[in-house]
Amino acid sequence: MPNTPTEHAPAGKAEALLPELRTLLGDAGVLTDPADCAPFCTDWRSLYNGRTPAVLRPASTEQLAAVVRLCQAHGVALVPQGGNTSMVGGAVPSEQGNQFVLTLGRMNRVRSVDTLDMTMEVDAGITLAAAQQAAADAGCLFPLSIGSEGTAQIGGVLSTNAGGNNTVRYGNARDLALGLEVVMADGTVWNGMRRLRKDNTGYCLRQLFMGSEGTLGIITGAVLKMVPRPQTSEAVFCALPSLPAVLDLFQRFQRYDASAVQAFEYMSSPGLELVLSLIPGTVRPLGTADAGYPHYALIELGTSRAGADLRGDAERLLEEAMEAGVVDDAVVSQSVAQRRALWKLREEHSESQRIAGGSVKNDVSVPVSRIPEFIERATAACAALVPGVRAMPFGHIGDGNIHFNLVQPEGADRAAFMAQSDAIMHTVDNVVESLGGSFSAEHGIGRLKTGLMEERRGGPELEAMRRIKQALDPLGILNPGKVLPAA
Ligand code: MLT
Ligand code: ZN
Repeated sequence: MPNTPTEHAPAGKAEALLPELRTLLGDAGVLTDPADCAPFCTDWRSLYNGRTPAVLRPASTEQLAAVVRLCQAHGVALVPQGGNTSMVGGAVPSEQGNQFVLTLGRMNRVRSVDTLDMTMEVDAGITLAAAQQAAADAGCLFPLSIGSEGTAQIGGVLSTNAGGNNTVRYGNARDLALGLEVVMADGTVWNGMRRLRKDNTGYCLRQLFMGSEGTLGIITGAVLKMVPRPQTSEAVFCALPSLPAVLDLFQRFQRYDASAVQAFEYMSSPGLELVLSLIPGTVRPLGTADAGYPHYALIELGTSRAGADLRGDAERLLEEAMEAGVVDDAVVSQSVAQRRALWKLREEHSESQRIAGGSVKNDVSVPVSRIPEFIERATAACAALVPGVRAMPFGHIGDGNIHFNLVQPEGADRAAFMAQSDAIMHTVDNVVESLGGSFSAEHGIGRLKTGLMEERRGGPELEAMRRIKQALDPLGILNPGKVLPAA
């Protein structure tokens, strides 16, 4: 398939549309000052620095649809952007300066909440934290939770099928949206805001748009699924002797009550030590003795069952696990403050690695049973490739989703280390592939991983994706250069 014309359209073509865009959106809806546009052109990880003639800020679905119609008529590309928290450069414009950024931040209303249907209708530009708050205000829970939830917007969360800490209990974003409103590439609006638990009417379009990273249509509204709010919660922090022990403990908690395991997160000793050394306000959770333990797990338990004794049950389980040599030491949080402190140790992993210098992220998944083998083999392979590299695996072990992140060797040159990113990612992905895993578990493809799509998903799978793209966005105006590799 030829490259889409818009990828190489001259920037002047987009600029010529500015007067008409101002008429459609008003002055507040079109940012052109380079200083105003700059934050929308760089990703959170500073991997990409794009340029844009303007950042477009529609205030309604109708305005957004009118923008898409205009751009489609002139073959000008649009890059939809939520909170700009992509880990894979999924929301930045290209360096050519010929793509508009389309930000949904002004479309941030909660449209309605229904506690009988357990659903909430929202605009796509609302932040994940605001959606969680709206559910909490109604006495319910919107269970998706990620580190960037204060900034990430629902549109981005759904279009990238975000995962996060509670996937083990409630699933990914795909499992938490019953309906969508989508502006198609020709500017028509698909109103799929159904709040049905069963709807077997042909192809499931909403599942197609979710995870497509804005390349097939632009999500402007969603019907989100709420769940009962846990009445009792406990956080448990454990030190463990080995990776098989981590899986053993996971199974023990699942067998106890899978519905109470809200999160089961893994941290390695090097990762935890980095957090403790670089993030102010973090404290050793197990007193001074824990520096010697190789592995850690943070488990969040929660239930809406009245009279449940989660703490008592957790203590009993831990005692049994200790007797069996599965757990070395553990603490059950005694207060909200201590629970927050335990979670901080997990949540600050990314930030501490960013501060430590160059880091190469591998957001991968393997079958849960293969995690120990994966971590051991990937660590050895990376050490052979880059002597002194610091492997800091952590993440959602209950989902088989490990963030196998590598931090530059102590004292190494950042640029020289980052120049080895591709080789490192390939080394890790070879191990992942051999274990039947995925090279992108929850961060998506964006711009960073399009090459791997060709290598790992080439053949009928990638071909079907290309045909879908061609059918829904024949001019290639939606987020070009993302997800699918140039043919
Ligand atoms: C997280 O779970 O903290 C992020 O998805 C991981 C990362 O920063 O690599
Ligand atoms: Zn994660």
